[in-house]
Amino acid sequence: MTKSFYITTPIYYVNDSPHIGHAYTNIVTDILARYHRISGKNVKFLTGTDEHGQKVEKSAIAKNIPAQDFVDQVSQTFRTLCTDLNISNDDFIRTTDQRHKDAVIAIWQKLQENGHIYKDKYSGWYSVRDEAFYSESEITEDKKAPTGAPVEWVEEESYFFNLSKWQDKLLQFYEENPEVIYPKSRKNEVISFIKSGLKDLSISRVSLNWGIGVPNEQKHTIYVWLDALTNYLSAIHYPDENNDDFKNYWPEAHHIIGKDILRFHAVYWPAFLMAANLTLPKKIIAHGWWVRDGQKISKSIGNIIVPADLINEFGLDQFRYFLSREITFGNDGNYSRANLVNRVNSELSNKIGNLLQRSLSMVYKNCAEEIPQNITDDIYEDNKLLADALSCFEKYSKAIETPEFSSAIGYVIELAEQANIYIDENAPWALKNTNPEKMQQILYVILETCRYIGILLQPIIPESATKILHALSVPQDQRLFMHLNAKFRLKSGTKIPLPQAIFPRFEGE
Ligand code: MSP
Repeated sequence: MTKSFYITTPIYYVNDSPHIGHAYTNIVTDILARYHRISGKNVKFLTGTDEHGQKVEKSAIAKNIPAQDFVDQVSQTFRTLCTDLNISNDDFIRTTDQRHKDAVIAIWQKLQENGHIYKDKYSGWYSVRDEAFYSESEITEDKKAPTGAPVEWVEEESYFFNLSKWQDKLLQFYEENPEVIYPKSRKNEVISFIKSGLKDLSISRVSLNWGIGVPNEQKHTIYVWLDALTNYLSAIHYPDENNDDFKNYWPEAHHIIGKDILRFHAVYWPAFLMAANLTLPKKIIAHGWWVRDGQKISKSIGNIIVPADLINEFGLDQFRYFLSREITFGNDGNYSRANLVNRVNSELSNKIGNLLQRSLSMVYKNCAEEIPQNITDDIYEDNKLLADALSCFEKYSKAIETPEFSSAIGYVIELAEQANIYIDENAPWALKNTNPEKMQQILYVILETCRYIGILLQPIIPESATKILHALSVPQDQRLFMHLNAKFRLKSGTKIPLPQAIFPRFEGE
């Protein structure tokens, strides 16, 4: 049976217009989704928008637009971002969708039925920007949240979730499943937060209208994070636990998030799930931030970088490549235009583009516009470059699955470097008249290595990888990772199209 894989991005607040940070979350999630599809899995990739809560309500009021019209408009910009970035999501959920509202009501009722919700009074600090409650000890001297966001004092009737009761169960879960949170440093953060003592969580507000009402309680609106987190279930038909999507995907859930929303995903969410008798996510993977001069890139700080601008200037795949290659996953990355130009030129253009251009032009000119002839089945034997190509997948897949995108890409770049060295050392151009068979074999080995490079780059730079595979005339149905072996090697005599440059060079600053 085909294995299923469920992967999600956070759903984006619609108070903000999409910027490089959102693009990054989308792109790394897309890489994983594509990687698992090319591995032969049945993938569901979910993204969407988080449209309720005070923050969104305030933005709509500030713009003087009815909340529903406002969220319709901004949600659309996040859909457009997906299209602009060539994101392969299978679904786009909005928290204003009826299917989502139904799921939120269902989970609320389940928590209530199981005895985990009670009514009391909340008095404490709340940050609208973070949509989060903070305890007294977390508030800084100048009355800010640890994130730097302003806080306000709230005192009102509220429903509570008995989070404190889940402390030991959460610790036990992470002890028994140490691989769930990645990177490890984030896991340690979560564990110490849980150990510091969990307080019951306020999960309804009377001072909020824009949201999903508490069942049979006119006054109360469900806390936006309980609402938002449930999106991961609503898209797979919760509460219908017998639905095939629910049965196949829920046990395989992988949540990709930014480090700023770890507490919600790794503490509150698993506690809600346990309380609702549901299994817990398989992985919670937290990435770092894109920063500028040490500050998180965000609209409220006013230092945003608009993805569309960079895509127009450098090309979509160049942008995807830079974001996924430039930083060690989990760490912050300092955005710099010079680094972007440098990455694109030194790797995509000089290493991969150059390799393709040199080898394909030679083949086109000297091998009758076709994959070289005179190749025997033992071509792989004793060939170091093809051995490197064969062994590349294992290292690459381990890195991507970790996930460590930069090193996964690095293995492909190393393979291209080896191929460039192989051309230089074997100088096929000098053999044209003296030993044409040998020239054909050398060129064949290079093109066959490029086939690996093209297949491996598909999750990262899908359009360009397709161009590479097209340039090599690799059949459409032989582009999966299972085709990375000698059995599916390039077929001699297959016509190739006129080679075109795939990765242009850019001028530096
Ligand atoms: N709505 C919540 C998530 C609810 S999920 C059930 C939210 N939305 S957000 O729009 O503020 O952030 C969405 C994602 O974008 C987060 O993963 C966040 O980390 C990411 N980024 C926003 N700015 C970022 C950077 N400057 N750099 C990298 N990613 C950051 O939180």
